Amino acid sequence: MNFDYCNPVRILFGKGEIAKLSELIGKSLKVMMVYGGGSIKKNGVYDQVVKALSERDVIEFSGIEPNPQYATCMKAVEVIKKGKIDFLLAVGGGSVLDAAKFVAAATLRKDGDPWDILLKQAPVKEALPLGDVLTLPATGSEMNAGAVISRAEFRQKLFFGSPAVYPKFSILDPETTYTLPPRQTTNGIVDAYIHVVEQYLTFPANAPLQDRLCESILLTLIEEGPRVLKDPNNYDARANIMWAATCALNGFISLGVPQDWASHLIGHEITAEYGLDHAQTLAVVLPGTMQVQRDKKKAKLLQYAERVFGLTGGSEDERIDAAIARTEEFFRSVGQKTKLSEYDIGPEACDVIAKRIGKFPFKLGEHQDIDDDKVREILKLRV
Ligand code: NZQ
Ligand code: ZN
Repeated sequence: MNFDYCNPVRILFGKGEIAKLSELIGKSLKVMMVYGGGSIKKNGVYDQVVKALSERDVIEFSGIEPNPQYATCMKAVEVIKKGKIDFLLAVGGGSVLDAAKFVAAATLRKDGDPWDILLKQAPVKEALPLGDVLTLPATGSEMNAGAVISRAEFRQKLFFGSPAVYPKFSILDPETTYTLPPRQTTNGIVDAYIHVVEQYLTFPANAPLQDRLCESILLTLIEEGPRVLKDPNNYDARANIMWAATCALNGFISLGVPQDWASHLIGHEITAEYGLDHAQTLAVVLPGTMQVQRDKKKAKLLQYAERVFGLTGGSEDERIDAAIARTEEFFRSVGQKTKLSEYDIGPEACDVIAKRIGKFPFKLGEHQDIDDDKVREILKLRV
């Protein structure tokens, strides 16, 4: 398939790169540093950023929640408008980065409700410039043009994307991830893995390079995931996970090939309704999507079975069953639960989530054939 790709994000990767922050942001700009609930104050990242920007005019905006909230973002927009801020520096995980992207877009929106950026996909033509220091490898937000924002009072979690919100730069220092609690390390490994699967496990598109790029990221996560959980201060393992997660969703592996994203869209509804972490929802849903779509995904499932798990024996059906089982085993091996009941969610969720998806103006998956009935079928396998 044709494609048109331009990824303008400058990546500074490795130990000590935070010290270069000041050089990356124009001297005359007034900066707002955006962060979350305070993890950066406990692990020294805050101090490194403040030191790097000591000669600069910086104000702070903290309290971005995991699954960032619209109301919090709009408070930031007010502060920016009053304080004449020219540049946003997000310091944290995907939630902080996504919030900064939305704030950057909402600030420059001239008229109309900023919620329309998410609800109606109102085009975002301009945004305040932003950069980031990433502390949680997972979402790929540091090198993509997307963001996901939640609105508690409507129980909604919605996506928007625009080239205007690509970060100008992203600093990826693996040492900042040593302090991640196991739950977040696991979330990151699983989220990155499933980002690749969403762009790989569709149907053959005569794109062997894209396939092998995907398989290499999956194999890296399978090798490095357990290492990093066993030895959280292993720089090499942390570095490999960090780069793998960025490559999983910077747009490169999806060039010219079909994409799925059904598990993500179902997962977002589960988070909006029940509050699970993003990656927790994905590990529940994906094995069900693979099972229900196994005929349509047959060729790629067999390729995945062979190239990622070395499964070559038995019938085609047996190999597909084994590949789905091995996928779930991998999630469990890095500490992720894979069933709704393990989160105290009962079978009624199948209907609740199916109804929510039934209201979408489109069907899900690479064939756009996943409707509410299929979502129910997928989730019934996951209770
Ligand atoms: O808020 P603080 O105190 O910083 O703590 C965070 C948060 O509680 C903590 N944390 C982050 N770095 C840490 C750390 N704790 C200790 N040491 C560190 N180095 O981790 C917790 C979770 O952070 P969060 O940013 O919410 O996690 P993640 O990076 O997994 O982001 C999840 C959000 O991104 C969206 C998800 O839907 C969810 O809202 N996604 C964004 C995407 C994108 N922009 O392209 C794609 C994804 O598929 C995903 O939907
Ligand atoms: Zn994700």
